[in-house]
Amino acid sequence: MTHKNARMTVLSVLLPASMLLLSLGQIGQYFSRHGIFAKLTARLNDNLSSTNIAIRDCSHNYTINIMSLNPVVFYLDNFIKESEVQHLLEITKNEFDDSRVFLNGQAVVDKSYRSSQSALVDIDDPVSQCLSQRLKALVGNVQHEDTERLHLVKYGVGGYFNLHNDWLTRPLEATGKDGSPRPYNRAGSVFAYLDDSCTGGETYFPEVQGVPDNAEGTKFSRSSTGKGLLVKPRRGSAVFWISAHMNGTGDERMVHASLPVTSGTKVGLNMFSIYYLDTPLVGSMKGQ
Ligand SMILES: *[C@@H]1O[C@H](CO)[C@@H](O)[C@H](O)[C@H]1NC(C)=O
Ligand SMILES: *[C@@H]1O[C@H](CO)[C@@H](O)[C@H](O)[C@H]1NC(C)=O
Ligand SMILES: *[C@@H]1O[C@H](CO)[C@@H](O)[C@H](O)[C@H]1NC(C)=O
Repeated sequence: MTHKNARMTVLSVLLPASMLLLSLGQIGQYFSRHGIFAKLTARLNDNLSSTNIAIRDCSHNYTINIMSLNPVVFYLDNFIKESEVQHLLEITKNEFDDSRVFLNGQAVVDKSYRSSQSALVDIDDPVSQCLSQRLKALVGNVQHEDTERLHLVKYGVGGYFNLHNDWLTRPLEATGKDGSPRPYNRAGSVFAYLDDSCTGGETYFPEVQGVPDNAEGTKFSRSSTGKGLLVKPRRGSAVFWISAHMNGTGDERMVHASLPVTSGTKVGLNMFSIYYLDTPLVGSMKGQ
C-alpha cells in the first residue's frame, strides 16, 4: 500500500468515527455539568476539532530552488503549510525563554552574541512528527536516523544572532539502545520563517554566493557589495543547508547570522537532522 493510500484509509475510518464521537462529546457535556466526564469531554472535543485532523495531514507542496551546490544550500518555498505555522505558534506561545549558545560544551545565555527567545516543541506533537519526516526525506542519502527536537526562535526589535555555525565543535550525546552515550553532530539544517511581520532579520551567509539583482525581492536581499546570501523572512518558507563535510567535519563556509530585526517580530523554526559518529554520514539511506 502506498503512503497516500494509507493516509486515505486512515481518513475514511476517522471521519465516520469522529461523527459518532462528536455526539458522544455532546452527551459528555451533559455529564460534565455534574463535574463527571469534564476532562474526558474536553479531550475528545480537542482531539476531534477540524484543526486537529488537519494537522495530522503531512502532505505538502513545497518547491526547491538550489542556491548553491558547494556548499549545498536550498531555498524551500512553502516548506511549512499555513495550518502548521498556526499550530506551532499556538502551542508555543507561552513557552519562550532566553535563547542559549554553546560555550565550551555548556548552553549559556549571552545576549551580546544571541538576543532572542526560544521554545521547544514536544517530540510527540503531530506537526513536529510531520516536519521531522519531511526533513529526513529531504536529506535522502545523508544519514537521517534522527532529528533534533524542533525549536522556535523569536526576535523582537534589535534581536539578532551573531555569526555561528550549526555544526558543533563538541558533539552532543544521545542515549544508545543499550543505554550508553551515542555522540552525534548536526548535518542538515532547516531554518523556516513562521512570523515575518518585521523588517530586517535576514539570515545572512557571508561565504555563500549571493543572488543577482533581478532575484525575487520578497525572498532575498542583496548586500551593498553583492557578496553573501541574504534570505528574507517569508512566512512558511525556509532555507536548507548542509553543515558538515562528507567526512564528518564542520563546513566553515556555512557560517551564518540572523541580522537585527529593525521593526516588528520575527519567529523562526530551527530543524536539524543529525548524524551519529558511529555510522557513515553518507550512504545510510533508509526507506521513507
Ligand atoms: C487524543 O489524542 C492523543 C494523541 O494526540 C491520544 O493520546 C489520546 O488518547 C486522545 N484522547 C482521547 C480522549 O481520544
Ligand atoms: C497541493 O497542490 C494541489 C494542486 O494545486 C492541491 O490540490 C493540494 O491541496 C495542495 N496540497 C497542500 C498540502 O497544500
Ligand atoms: C574533511 O573534508 C574537508 C573537505 O574536503 C577537508 O577540507 C578536511 O581537511 C577534511 N578533514 C579531515 C579530518 O579529513
